Amino acid sequence: MRAWLMDDYTGVENLRLGEVRGPQPGPEQVLLRVKFAALNPADAFLARKMYPANPSLPHILGRDGVGEIVTVGPGAGNVGVGDTVGILRCEVGVKQWGTLAEKVVVPAKSVMRIPTGWSDEEMAGAPLVFLTAWQALTQWADPPAPSSAKTVLLVTGASGGVGVASVLLGKSMNLTVVALSRSAKKRAKLQKLGADFVFDPMDRNLVKSVTAALSPRKVDLAVDNVGGALLPQVVALLGYGGRVSVVGRSGGTVPEFNTSTLFFRRIRIGGVSVGDFTAQEAHVAWEQIVGRLDAMGQRPQVDTIVPFEEVKAGFDRLAQGPMGKVLVKIGG
Ligand SMILES: NC(=O)c1ccc[n+]([C@@H]2O[C@H](COP(=O)([O-])OP(=O)(O)OC[C@H]3O[C@@H](n4cnc5c(N)ncnc54)[C@H](OP(=O)(O)O)[C@@H]3O)[C@@H](O)[C@H]2O)c1
Repeated sequence: MRAWLMDDYTGVENLRLGEVRGPQPGPEQVLLRVKFAALNPADAFLARKMYPANPSLPHILGRDGVGEIVTVGPGAGNVGVGDTVGILRCEVGVKQWGTLAEKVVVPAKSVMRIPTGWSDEEMAGAPLVFLTAWQALTQWADPPAPSSAKTVLLVTGASGGVGVASVLLGKSMNLTVVALSRSAKKRAKLQKLGADFVFDPMDRNLVKSVTAALSPRKVDLAVDNVGGALLPQVVALLGYGGRVSVVGRSGGTVPEFNTSTLFFRRIRIGGVSVGDFTAQEAHVAWEQIVGRLDAMGQRPQVDTIVPFEEVKAGFDRLAQGPMGKVLVKIGG
């Protein structure tokens, strides 16, 4: 089969489109003919050894995707040949060969039928980012307040995969959503998706502007996809008992941070790890996600679809900052 092969840990720019022997499913696994794969920043991190996984080489990246089941391994009874399914986050593309290939083997317990009315493209990029956003919003044992429009959610990197998912799920919980994006065009799109307030994170008066718009309310929960210089500003915007779900690091390391900013308002910061979902937990969360999107008449957002041969252009688009997901079209 044709696949994008990772021969070393020097980055996605050095992936190579080559031929390898197609994988065969073992017990409780299925073989998919991949129709669409989706790209995630973690693919690029893994390809630079900046991710806690060291798959043997050559490796094939790609954690998300949609495909048609062509072979069912022994004991994989929940699905059948000919079904088109998506992949819920598992070790595919991390420790096992991923979806940037014509075929991929997936644990049968980690595939999911396409929700009614969704396109293959909408499904292909949704599971990983929506599951991440779900954990970021629900990981606190004591949620900030009964979900209501009085509860304020701040989302950084709101135009990205996890960002859009956080905005949509936040609205499904009836929260007031403040979304940050560096692009005016994307801020307008985020408002269309339901964000109540949008701001440019590069605004030197960001804290003042958000505070004035929300007054007298403060941010109760922040989903931070960016980190870097933005994190201290996110903390400054929190009210008493506010918390930050730390998802990503697109903005690099935090340059200066005084822990005293955490004491007096009893701020809590907690990491998010989508890899912590068991297959069963992922299915339960996924049902909630689909139900909430359907109830709002919303769908996962697709930014760009690149042909299989143009995976590197897809990673370039991802690095620029998409509005939703970047997909790769592989099969028909
Ligand atoms: N912890 C986990 O389990 C988990 C799971 C999934 C993803 N992640 C991480 O979460 C982060 C977001 O993932 P994603 O899939 O949403 O990525 P994405 O689709 O690439 O979106 C990230 C968004 O962040 C903004 N951004 C990028 N660089 C920035 C910078 N230097 N300063 C300010 N904003 C910046 C961009 O929005 P604008 O251009 O509109 O500003 C971009 O659209 C990544 O670091 C990813 O590795 C973690």
